[in-house]
Amino acid sequence: MTALENDLLATLQQAQEALAKASGENELEECRAKFLGRKGAIPALMSQLGAVPKEDKPAVGKTLNAVKQQLQAAFDEASNRIKEKKEDLSALDVSLPARHNRIGHKHPISLVMDSAVAIFRRMGFIVADGPDLENVWNNFDALNAPQDHPSRTPEDTFYFDLDKRHWLDPETMILRTQTSPVQVRAMMAQKPPIRVVCPGRCYRRDTPDATHGMSFHQIEGLYVDENVSLADLKGTLAAFSREMFGERTKIRFRPHFFPFTEPSVECDASCIACGGVGCRVCKGSGWLEIAGAGMVNPAVFTNVGYDPEKASGFAFGMGLERIAMTRYAINDLRLLYDNDVRFLHQF
Ligand code: DAH
Repeated sequence: MTALENDLLATLQQAQEALAKASGENELEECRAKFLGRKGAIPALMSQLGAVPKEDKPAVGKTLNAVKQQLQAAFDEASNRIKEKKEDLSALDVSLPARHNRIGHKHPISLVMDSAVAIFRRMGFIVADGPDLENVWNNFDALNAPQDHPSRTPEDTFYFDLDKRHWLDPETMILRTQTSPVQVRAMMAQKPPIRVVCPGRCYRRDTPDATHGMSFHQIEGLYVDENVSLADLKGTLAAFSREMFGERTKIRFRPHFFPFTEPSVECDASCIACGGVGCRVCKGSGWLEIAGAGMVNPAVFTNVGYDPEKASGFAFGMGLERIAMTRYAINDLRLLYDNDVRFLHQF
């Protein structure tokens, strides 16, 4: 093999290596100039062809052709590779609107619970907590519920260990039927003054329908001090309602009965859908029931070890599902628990 052929093959190898590394148009152009350009390596070698002895010419010419072919193939390959990469990039249209990550959000019940807690916190209430699994004493007896109250039967309440204990036994465990036992826990844990709200889950053996679930949420409120009056209760619930449902919301009290309060009331807020005129949401009455409430029964104070002569206070409890249904115009409570993301994404 002639020296020229050696040089040609060595140059081809250099060119192939450089092209394999080339990753953009610019590098490709540099290679073209370096090996094929007017002052490039290949033309420089080709110019030596004239000096090759006649008998070597056919062989050198063959090598030269083979080198040119392979060089072209290496250029084509590098150029295709770079083009494909460019096309990949052009698929990225930076002017398109961004794709949002769906990271989820709070459930409507949590949203309502958070706003209710925030409103009461601004009024000076702090959050108290209690377990879903309660004992009969905290849920019923301490709250002055008579033993023959229908809600206490195993048909209405979820009991545990009924094979070992009677359902009237104060130590029998149940799923709490209301958040009111947290009142008892709060009072047993500290002396007045007390100002707490307790949001949480409750359980009842109801057959689920559009307005009942076997589990639901309440927020309980308790304020105990000296000389607390029904007017304080009304002012508190009125302020809450204005914040929760709107500036123009009015409230009214209707007489009612709860074993743990005396007197007891049910509190209605003027309908947020019609403003009180009467519509489908409020079934024509102009009012929506939002809470049970009343002045803490002295018997409850005695049960938790407070002096009923000195302590006075109010309590209230409201259903969060009902508030969520009103606020978001939801007509079937079960929608809140089906966990259909198409429904939940709306809030
Ligand atoms: N616990 C009652 C219920 O589940 C609601 C309630 C009414 C709570 C009056 C109270 C209250 O604290 O004073 O229906």
